[in-house]
Amino acid sequence: MLNNTVNANKAFGVSESNSSSTAENRHPNPLPPLQDRHGRTFDYVRIAVIEQCNLRCTYCMPEEGVRFKEKDMVLRTDEILRIVDILARMGVRKVRYTGGEPLVRPDIVEIVERTVQTPGVKAVHMTTNGLLFPKYAKDLRDAGLFGVNISLDSLREDKFQQITRRSGLDKVLESIDLAVELGFPRVKVNVVLMRGFNEDELIPFCELTRDKPVTVRFIEFMPFDAHQIWETGQHFASAADLCSQIEAHYAGSGINPASGTRTEHHIYQVPGYAGKIAVIPAFTRSLCGNCSRIRVTADGNIMNCLYSEVPYHLKDLMRNGASDDDVVALFRKAFDEKYKDGFEAKKAASIAAKINVSDIDRARASMTQIGG
Ligand code: GTP
Ligand code: 5AD
Ligand code: SF4
Repeated sequence: MLNNTVNANKAFGVSESNSSSTAENRHPNPLPPLQDRHGRTFDYVRIAVIEQCNLRCTYCMPEEGVRFKEKDMVLRTDEILRIVDILARMGVRKVRYTGGEPLVRPDIVEIVERTVQTPGVKAVHMTTNGLLFPKYAKDLRDAGLFGVNISLDSLREDKFQQITRRSGLDKVLESIDLAVELGFPRVKVNVVLMRGFNEDELIPFCELTRDKPVTVRFIEFMPFDAHQIWETGQHFASAADLCSQIEAHYAGSGINPASGTRTEHHIYQVPGYAGKIAVIPAFTRSLCGNCSRIRVTADGNIMNCLYSEVPYHLKDLMRNGASDDDVVALFRKAFDEKYKDGFEAKKAASIAAKINVSDIDRARASMTQIGG
């Protein structure tokens, strides 16, 4: 494998920012940063704004959907903005809205706009399946959205329908081009690469970067799929394997290591190509040492790791009249208790649930609740 795993991301700072200077955008009422026992600092929050989704990807949800929470169980706009403000005081600079599908939430443009205006926040991003993106793209750009990650697992309509159980490939492709045209500074395509399913599209996806200034990212399939297909054990393709295939295919072209964000643990650029290619070791978890992510689920719980099963009840605390100091204390507790990596987090979850570590995934929520 090319020695590019060091990439990890010097590029994160100013390059992910809306502003040219960090000093001018500090929160006026700062607090010490959010850190853990392992020396990591957390400056990136991913907030799921809704559980519902307008697709039914087989690796994520069953056809009938999952049992979605009642509306008042989901974070309200004022609660989301309060969390963002408090985290900005603690040094969080990057905010990502996820879901479910964030564009299904009616007030999403307002949420983005007000987040962009929060002192201390440098960049607001969104992860979307792209179906509704053409409808909101201009408004989101005007609101100051910095980055858009668009999920797309196949470039073939039949496969697209097979995986999402809906049609819409054209719309998603239109969204990628529109995001570039409108000048969003970061446009990415997220591909969950599954052996025996879309593995044959690895190179066609890489080839999107020839003309498009986008980062195409291959994500390892994770067992958060509401018991759908992970358990067959047939579909997992490792990051190491995907990197080898990419490097072998482009060996003659002098493919180079590039820089990217912390999740883009392996990242390349083919000389002369407009975009970049990345591989995210979401399951093999070699990215944990660099973890900078805070997660807030749609129903208002803090998760200190994607593989953790311990929710910290933030929404309930806020609805019981908590002060900002109480909210800060809950975040600090959550990150004080964060494990070294996703393997330890998973092991702890299995011990707590008194089940075998290999069975813990069966009890796992769908990604639609965690927000990726
Ligand atoms: P950038 O900020 O553009 O790097 O995006 P991102 O990768 O942080 O966000 P995105 O929503 O596009 O996430 C893509 C996928 O990367 C997620 O769904 C996960 O599969 C994986 N991923 C993101 N963060 C983590 C993490 O902390 N741990 C693990 N194991 N996987 C992660
Ligand atoms: N494994 C890997 N990635 C997943 N995503 C959703 N479910 C899974 C899974 N089981 C991805 C989506 C999207 C991101 C937010 O999470 O494809 O790009
Ligand atoms: Fe961070 Fe947990 Fe993801 Fe590792 S698995 S990168 S510790 S959230």
